[in-house]
Amino acid sequence: MTDTETALRSFLIPGRVEARTENGQLPKLLLSTAGSTAELYLHGAQVTYFQKQSERPLLFMSAQSYFAPDKPIRGGVPIIFPWFGPRDGAAAHGFARTAAWSLVDSSATNNETRVTLELAQATDLGEWPAHRLRYRVTVSDVLRLELEVTNNSTARELAHESCLHTYFAIGDIHTTRIAGLQGACYLDKVDNFVEKTETAAEIAITGETDRVYLNTDSTVTIIDPLWHRRIVVEKSGSRSTVVWNPWIAKAKAMADFGDDEYQRMLCVESGNVDRDRLALAPGTSSTLSTTLRSELF
Ligand code: BG6
Repeated sequence: MTDTETALRSFLIPGRVEARTENGQLPKLLLSTAGSTAELYLHGAQVTYFQKQSERPLLFMSAQSYFAPDKPIRGGVPIIFPWFGPRDGAAAHGFARTAAWSLVDSSATNNETRVTLELAQATDLGEWPAHRLRYRVTVSDVLRLELEVTNNSTARELAHESCLHTYFAIGDIHTTRIAGLQGACYLDKVDNFVEKTETAAEIAITGETDRVYLNTDSTVTIIDPLWHRRIVVEKSGSRSTVVWNPWIAKAKAMADFGDDEYQRMLCVESGNVDRDRLALAPGTSSTLSTTLRSELF
């Protein structure tokens, strides 16, 4: 038994929280309830799978994804912290998504299975004062994700960005629509970060789309006519919503993403990025959470 397996053992609940090691030896957890299943890697605390009985999987996972300790997993819900986007001399989207998290708690009731993972930085790390991330994943007929950030420093502020970079599985990008952002202001990353106002009640994706909607706590709905499914993204502790689809050229340029996969995925991400970044005072915490639910029509 490996050290990781030994560390996991005390938190396993037969039939509800189980561990597996596949895909190049990265350990993952399988979470189940009577009506749903989910998978979660300790690498990045990344949820890669959620499925309600008799529905298609909710989350998109690239068939080309890496599963390697030094690389992010492409799909599911990468955790972005403490910076969003590229950064000189460092990996894009921060270090949390490629860190080895620890399982610190688990529980199961009739309808819910829950685990908590932790990533702690005990001492100041350059720009980042000592802090702790706790991530609670609750599986029921919905998927609830809660990321708590605690600034453990007694003297320094923890200024950071965070995002639950959720990849949804959809039937066809050409017919999918996004509702709930009308009137919100956004930075259009494919148009030099020009600030725009969303005019559409239902947004259609017709090309590369990379938008940071700011100062919005709205619930967003993804309407997927091909799969007759509506996905509802509810959030709290989040002022930003990012909408991303790489479209044709960018999909081709990404080594860990299939050329045609842009047609079957859409990212709607809940977080606090850019002007919505958070500055946590010493000794304080904040929680970013999202509840992902789906219904067929
Ligand atoms: C999105 C960003 O959140 O993530 C995009 O807005 C970026 O600009 C995308 O391309 C994917 O990032 P990465 O680092 O996982 O390839």
